[in-house]
Amino acid sequence: MHTSLLATTKRRRSRITARQAAALDQGSDRLVRIGDSVLGEETASLPLLLGLLDLLDPASDWVLDIGFGTGEPVERSALDEPERSIIAIDLHIPGVGDLVHRIESAKLTNVVVIEADARQVLPALPPNGLSGVRTFFPDPWPKKRHHRRRLVNESFTRELARYVQPGGFWHLATDWPDYADQIAAIVTASDLWRGGVIPRPDHRPVTRYERNALAAGRAPIDMWFERVTA
Ligand SMILES: C[S@@+](CC[C@H](N)C(=O)[O-])C[C@H]1O[C@@H](n2cnc3c(N)ncnc32)[C@H](O)[C@@H]1O
Repeated sequence: MHTSLLATTKRRRSRITARQAAALDQGSDRLVRIGDSVLGEETASLPLLLGLLDLLDPASDWVLDIGFGTGEPVERSALDEPERSIIAIDLHIPGVGDLVHRIESAKLTNVVVIEADARQVLPALPPNGLSGVRTFFPDPWPKKRHHRRRLVNESFTRELARYVQPGGFWHLATDWPDYADQIAAIVTASDLWRGGVIPRPDHRPVTRYERNALAAGRAPIDMWFERVTA
């Protein structure tokens, strides 16, 4: 296996607890695991994904949470905002197990989980089907030579817009000022989004990642963009 792929795979599986592993072993009709597969090559995955979306109330507001981390903030949002349905995507297997456990324990009916690279999943979503997207603390890839691995780039920004209805939102947060500058420059350069930096909203749950960033002296920068028609 290519060394960087090996490192990614190891990281995806790091430190899984017995509870998280049991939730994954047991499975859930609210979970689809695509992992590292390329969706186009994994013929079984697309119908599974579409079946997963069928579990969501079509009359609710669909919000995509890209890179949710641990299950706690999604569970809290799902309980606080029952009028919303959350499509939660992450590659990190322990976090996926955590969220599946929470969904089953709290009997949440407004969340589905996809273990995948969000970039693979977008084409399975209905165009204009999302009322909003959350991307809280995307991996910062702080070294300059790794910046090209950052999730938010021109093509992702353009592609994501296809799935967000006009007037819908994209709420991002990062603790890396140069990533915030990069996001603001890329997203505002697109004629599909308008917005910029906002004060930290109280409704965004504080996560372990954010607490660690604050302890290291890095304050969060929130950004809010509205989907506009070009
Ligand atoms: C720094 S953590 C932040 C987690 C969480 N949003 C928070 O605020 O605490 C970034 C998360 O994004 C996930 N991630 C990175 N690239 C991703 C991708 N292409 N698709 C889905 N998830 C991704 C990682 O596995 C990780 O859980």
